[in-house]
Amino acid sequence: MGGTPLSLSTPSPSPNGACPYIRGKFETEFSGESGLGSLIFRDRDKLSPRYVPSSLPHREAQLETLSSFYMYKLDRPGGSYLTCCQLIGPVGTGKTACILNFGRAFESEAVKRRVKLRHAYLNCKVDGSNRYKLYRNLLSKVAPEVSTGGMSPEEMLHQLLEYLEAEKMFLMITVDEVGYFYRGSSEPLIYDLTRLNEIYPYKPCRVVGVAFISRSLEFHDKLDESERSTLGRLIISFPKYTASQVRDILEERVEEAFQPGAVSEDVLDFVSEIVADPPINGDMRVALDLLYYAGTLAENMGAERVRPEHVRRVYGETHPAITTQDIIELDVHEKLALYALLRLLEGRASPYATLSEIRDEYEFICEERGLEPRGCFEELMQELLDRQIVEMKSLLKFTICDVPAGKLRAYLNGLLRRLEG
Ligand SMILES: Nc1ncnc2c1ncn2[C@@H]1O[C@H](COP(=O)(O)OP(=O)(O)OP(=O)(O)O)[C@@H](O)[C@H]1O
Ligand SMILES: [Mg+2]
Repeated sequence: MGGTPLSLSTPSPSPNGACPYIRGKFETEFSGESGLGSLIFRDRDKLSPRYVPSSLPHREAQLETLSSFYMYKLDRPGGSYLTCCQLIGPVGTGKTACILNFGRAFESEAVKRRVKLRHAYLNCKVDGSNRYKLYRNLLSKVAPEVSTGGMSPEEMLHQLLEYLEAEKMFLMITVDEVGYFYRGSSEPLIYDLTRLNEIYPYKPCRVVGVAFISRSLEFHDKLDESERSTLGRLIISFPKYTASQVRDILEERVEEAFQPGAVSEDVLDFVSEIVADPPINGDMRVALDLLYYAGTLAENMGAERVRPEHVRRVYGETHPAITTQDIIELDVHEKLALYALLRLLEGRASPYATLSEIRDEYEFICEERGLEPRGCFEELMQELLDRQIVEMKSLLKFTICDVPAGKLRAYLNGLLRRLEG
C-alpha cells in the first residue's frame, strides 16, 4: 500500500469476475465448536480455509509438475540452479492448497534423504505488500534468530543467504498473491527473488526455487524485460473446476468433516451445481463455506442430516461477496474501518456512505474500544479498496462490493456479526 493515495477512479471488478461467498449469518453461533456429540459434524475444522488436505483430487497433474521441477534437486543439493515457476489460475482453484501440500511433501522427502530443506510460504496480503515487510517476515520464518532492525530489503536477502550457508540449509520460497503486490507497488520483488543466485555468483545458491502465485498473468505488465526473462516461462495452470470435479473434491472433504450419511448425494449434487455455475465459477472456497453453513444450520435446527433446503436457505440469505478468508486477512484497524462503513450503511436507506462519515464512525468505534485510531485513515480505506471488499463510486459514495439492492440488510447483518465475533 505504501501511502498510495485514494484513487478517484472506480475500482475495477474482481479480475476473474468471480464472487466469493459470505459466511456471515450463521457464523458466530458456531465458531470454535468441535464435532464432539454432533449428529452432523465429525470435524468441522476440516472445512476451514486454514486446513490443507493431504489429498487434492483433480490437481494431480499440477502436483506432479511441481515435483518434476524440484524433487530432483534433492539428489544433488547445491548442484543445481534456482528454478522459478508460476502457479496461475482463477479464485479458489487450489493454487495455495497445492503449493502448501507440495511444500510439505518436499520437506518430508528432504528429511528422508537427510537434506536440510525448508519451504517458506509468504502471502503478500498477509505478510506485507512491500519488500521490507515481506523480507522481514521471510527472515522471521526461516531465521528467527537474525535481527533485521535497520536493514534494507537487499541487506535482509544477503542475511538470509548467509544464514542458509551457515546452517547448511536449502530453501524453497513461495510468494502468493503476487498480482496483489504489483497492483499497489512497483518495487522489484521479482527482480530480487529471481536473481538470488547472483548475489554470491561463485557459490551454489541455497535457495533452490521460488514459486509465484497469482490469479492471472496481468502482473507481467508491471515487469521490465529483464525481470520477465529471469522469471521464465514455467507456468502451471489451474483451470476452474467443473461441476463433476467440484463434486469429487467435496465428496472427500465431506468424508473428513461430516458424520457418515449426514450429507446426502442430493446435497452434494446441489452444492456442486451452484458452485460450478456463474457467479461462483468453480470457486472451491464457496463450496466449503456453503457446506459448513448448511451443516451448521441443519444442526441448529435439530436435523439429523443436511438437506438441499438447508443449502438453499444459506445460499439465499447470504450473498456472494466476501469470504471468511478475506476477513481473516484484515488487520484490526482494517476490520474496524470496514465495521464503521457497515454500521453506517446498516442504519440508512441509501447504500452509500461518505469518506468523512466513515472516518468519524471509525474514530468513534476506536474510542468505544479504547484504541488509538490509525493516523492515516485513507490508507485503511485504500487497503479495503485494493482488496475489493469496498467499492468507491466517488469520495462521497463508498459501499460494499457486489451487494445486490434488496439484499443489503441481510448481508450487512451477517457481515457485522462476523466482524463482531
Ligand atoms: N483439489 C482440491 N481438493 C481439495 N480441496 C481443495 C481442492 N482445491 C481447492 N480446495 C480447497 O478449496 C479452498 C480454496 O483453495 P485455494 O485456497 O488453494 O485456492 P486458490 O487457487 O489459492 O484461490 P485464491 O486465488 O483465491 O487464493 C481451500 O480450502 C482448499 O483446501
Ligand atoms: Mg490462494
